[in-house]
Amino acid sequence: MYLVTVLGNLLIILAVSCDSHLHIPMYFFLSNLSLADIGFTSTTVPKLIVDILTHTRVISYVGCLTQMSFFAVFGCMDDMLLTVMAYDQFVAICHPLLYPVIMNPHHSGFLVVLSFLFSLLDSQLHNLIVLQFTYFKDEVISNFFCNPAQLLNLDCSDNFSSNILKYITGMLFGFFPILGIFLSYYKIVYSILRIPSPGGKFKAFSTCGFHLSVVFLFYGTSIGVYFGSAVSQSPTNCLVASVIYTLVTPMLNPFIYSLRNRDIKRSLSRLHSRKF
Ligand SMILES: *[C@@H]1O[C@H](CO)[C@@H](O)[C@H](O)[C@H]1NC(C)=O
Repeated sequence: MYLVTVLGNLLIILAVSCDSHLHIPMYFFLSNLSLADIGFTSTTVPKLIVDILTHTRVISYVGCLTQMSFFAVFGCMDDMLLTVMAYDQFVAICHPLLYPVIMNPHHSGFLVVLSFLFSLLDSQLHNLIVLQFTYFKDEVISNFFCNPAQLLNLDCSDNFSSNILKYITGMLFGFFPILGIFLSYYKIVYSILRIPSPGGKFKAFSTCGFHLSVVFLFYGTSIGVYFGSAVSQSPTNCLVASVIYTLVTPMLNPFIYSLRNRDIKRSLSRLHSRKF
């Protein structure tokens, strides 16, 4: 699964960077998402494989914090890019004439840089909260990686300031992106429903349907883990959800986006015929 994820996402980056027909914001966002997906799985899976091969399940304190930081950066980057892509689709469908103005190369580059800065901030906030623990020596985490949500909940001292920080991070990096995606899709569905021909409606729905399914998969499982680990203590549920959103979602992303996408398919076959 790891190999498929890395190769599939690399193929998308290659297709987008080699084909000048795909040099538009939508595909730049897609290849950035692929890059974030590669990073996201690479923070957890190689360590997991080493653990399986060596039959140890120990991680050092520094290793754990490092893994958590990178996990938060790439996870948040995924999250932000999905929001940016929803906004991109909203502009393309609801304001097609303004699209070249709103999504010019400067603005789309700015959105990517902004997503990255937000992700760094998110990971630093998580670090700040976790670094407050002083007794973090021999903890057992019922997962295959240092999951930020579970690390935050190791802190049972009910420290007021760290609780506040926890909810602020949850709001900032969970609630607002979801709100943005929700508003974009609300507008998109509203304007699609006003398309008179059924064929046009179907085409428009099928275009954004794939984005929406990735969003549901990613957010459904990560919200389940983040808030589920606060409410329930069932390690199995948490583990299953973690596997889905660290392994399955990044693996499915390239397929969902490219297999049904005529432009990417054409570019891949062009790449293939040029090679051989
Ligand atoms: C990420 O997005 C920026 C701005 O849209 C673009 O210039 C860059 O090529 C993208 N990165 C990748 C790996 O495609």
